[in-house]
Amino acid sequence: MDGLASAVAGIRKRFPALQGGELVPLDNAATTHRPQAVLDALTAFYVQSNANVHRANHRLGMAATAAYEGARARVARFVGARPEEVVFTRNATDAINLVARGFVEPLVGPGDAIVVTALEHHSNLVPWQQVCRRTGARLAVLDVDDQGVLREPIDWPDDAAFVAATRVSNALGTIVPTDRLVAAAAERGLPVLLDVTQAVQHLPLDAGSSDADFLAFSAHKMYGPMGLGVLVGRRGVLERTEPVVFGGEMVDSVDQHDARWQSPPLRFEAGTPAAASAAAFVPALDLIDELGIDAIRAHERELLEQLLAGLEAVDDVVVLGPSGAAERSGSVSLAIPGGDVHVAGTVLDMAGVAVRAGWHCAEPLLRRMGCGPTLRASLALYNTADDIDRLLAVLPEAVAACR
Ligand SMILES: Cc1ncc(COP(=O)(O)O)c(C=O)c1O
Repeated sequence: MDGLASAVAGIRKRFPALQGGELVPLDNAATTHRPQAVLDALTAFYVQSNANVHRANHRLGMAATAAYEGARARVARFVGARPEEVVFTRNATDAINLVARGFVEPLVGPGDAIVVTALEHHSNLVPWQQVCRRTGARLAVLDVDDQGVLREPIDWPDDAAFVAATRVSNALGTIVPTDRLVAAAAERGLPVLLDVTQAVQHLPLDAGSSDADFLAFSAHKMYGPMGLGVLVGRRGVLERTEPVVFGGEMVDSVDQHDARWQSPPLRFEAGTPAAASAAAFVPALDLIDELGIDAIRAHERELLEQLLAGLEAVDDVVVLGPSGAAERSGSVSLAIPGGDVHVAGTVLDMAGVAVRAGWHCAEPLLRRMGCGPTLRASLALYNTADDIDRLLAVLPEAVAACR
């Protein structure tokens, strides 16, 4: 057992929703639970700093702006960026849509391909389909093998103009070699967006991947509040991105018939932002850094190994994705041939085990894997070996009930 496994009991005490011991929280890829420090920071913002940001010059206004901009600087430090490279959005989906509308749509047209992988969440697929519909560009999909691993060497289309790829598949847990993908794209002069929504809370952001032009993620999947996402834009790409939402605070000056924009990132943050959520994201990032992302990875990898080994003894389930824990992060998806996974999910719920049954917003991927909806168990830093044992203990009954 690594240091973190023994510390997890103490860490878990910081999460009010996990007290009492009844709940086995294994639906963390959908959203994580939040520690008390995040809940306290939300309250503290509304009690001590309740004002709109960037507007009022009274003391509460200044406190609100300081909290919001402090959070931006904290996020920047977490991902190794500069504060002006960090845009606050509503969620990862919103961040990807901003790049789709504001950066890629003006860039592409007939004769261009937007390249995605077969592993994408709908949030990193549907926006690109829409860009293609509006511009006449086409979508090129990099295929995976039968284990859901990206095929290499990558077969780059000659007409590639932009690349959008996930770092970790939310449905299968596959880790994509985005460092190699980003390097190969850079050789071709292609800008890249990495969807790191299922990665930044589980894995170190390796040097190659952090070289991507854009990174997108959501606070609520990394122990922070809902309603806040992040777009990181590097190497001046934000300067070349058009705003797509217009209104107050994103403007520098306005006359009756025209307006000029603020510099990034503020030009992308029209209207009142989720300032309380931004302030409350800080203790979530502090928690990840306190434990250390390498220790979190080591702990979760042990749990993945335990789960994969235990599943070998469960009849009538097919484990999707790579066979080893080294190529996986976060999630394990199970198909139950001839069974309704929703029934299995309900049986697990009755035993207090929370997993997700469904398509996981990755319908084309699950079809590519030759199956339909799956049962997905997904990990967070507060999970324990006991959680995995409890899942494995009830799973045979859940599988039998749905067949
Ligand atoms: C890989 C991936 N990308 C994007 C998203 C979208 O995140 P959100 O719903 O917070 O916008 C998710 C959500 O599950 C995801 O798993």
